[in-house]
Amino acid sequence: MAVASLLYFKDESSTAMKLAELAGLAPCLIERHDFPDGEFKLKLPPTLSGRAVLFRSLNHPNEKLVELLFAAKTARQLGVQHLTLVVPYLAYMRQDIAFVPGEVVSQRIVGDLLASLFDAVITLDPHLHRVASLQEAVPVKDAINISAAPTLGNLVVQKRVNPFLIGPDEESAQWVAQAAASHRLDYAVATKTRIGDRSVDIALPPIDVKGRAVVLLDDIASSGHTLARAAELLLLAGAASVDVAVTHALFDSQAEALIKKAGVEQIWSTDCIAHSSNAVSVMPAITQVLTKLI
Ligand code: R5P
Repeated sequence: MAVASLLYFKDESSTAMKLAELAGLAPCLIERHDFPDGEFKLKLPPTLSGRAVLFRSLNHPNEKLVELLFAAKTARQLGVQHLTLVVPYLAYMRQDIAFVPGEVVSQRIVGDLLASLFDAVITLDPHLHRVASLQEAVPVKDAINISAAPTLGNLVVQKRVNPFLIGPDEESAQWVAQAAASHRLDYAVATKTRIGDRSVDIALPPIDVKGRAVVLLDDIASSGHTLARAAELLLLAGAASVDVAVTHALFDSQAEALIKKAGVEQIWSTDCIAHSSNAVSVMPAITQVLTKLI
């Protein structure tokens, strides 16, 4: 059987090459040329056929969604019959309901778009709030949701002795519980009230963290305010140290400084999004799923 191709973009070469090697795929660079007016042109290898995988993480999603549209349609024209999207970070999953008439439900629109372009979608820890499964959000035949929590749990026990895992809000409970499970770690979950894009209130659960090495674990760090506020409170409560472990390192330009200022020692992230804080790879976890699909 012919080896399937892994289509990737230059800025994600490092993770894409790792995945290609682990999954036994033929890496194929999508060339991109940027025009002075903001448009861009893509070029795919003309020899594509059969089964292919497109690798693209959707941080900075607005531009990358256009890339996906152009690349997927062209791959089909070139003869690809089965096209899988590996999208380690899947954007626009949080807006899943119209709270007032006229509000755009981005999750449904992006999900439908991806389902129209791909036969299968593989992602990690998508932020699904009011929908039960990835397939509801992305109605494609194979919609596969992998959790990075076990990988982060393994990393944390390598870095800290007897760590106490804390999730900063109710939604993080699922990931914290999974990360804690295989190493039987202590864990608890805080309560968060979001006041604005860059403002949160956090209430710690009734636990004793005095003298403990606490690790805050969450799916996304964006402005960093959630982790920074939680870290401040944990240190005030007597934690010996606070570190951070996240799946998706979105980090805006001020986030890392903010988190460090709050007293956090180390920031560890997975390579779902290429970032200087990447400390562990989810490519082995993706490979396990991908090799059964292609
Ligand atoms: C939302 O609830 C997510 O799990 C994260 O906690 C959130 O996206 C983090 O956002 P920020 O870093 O801007 O506080």
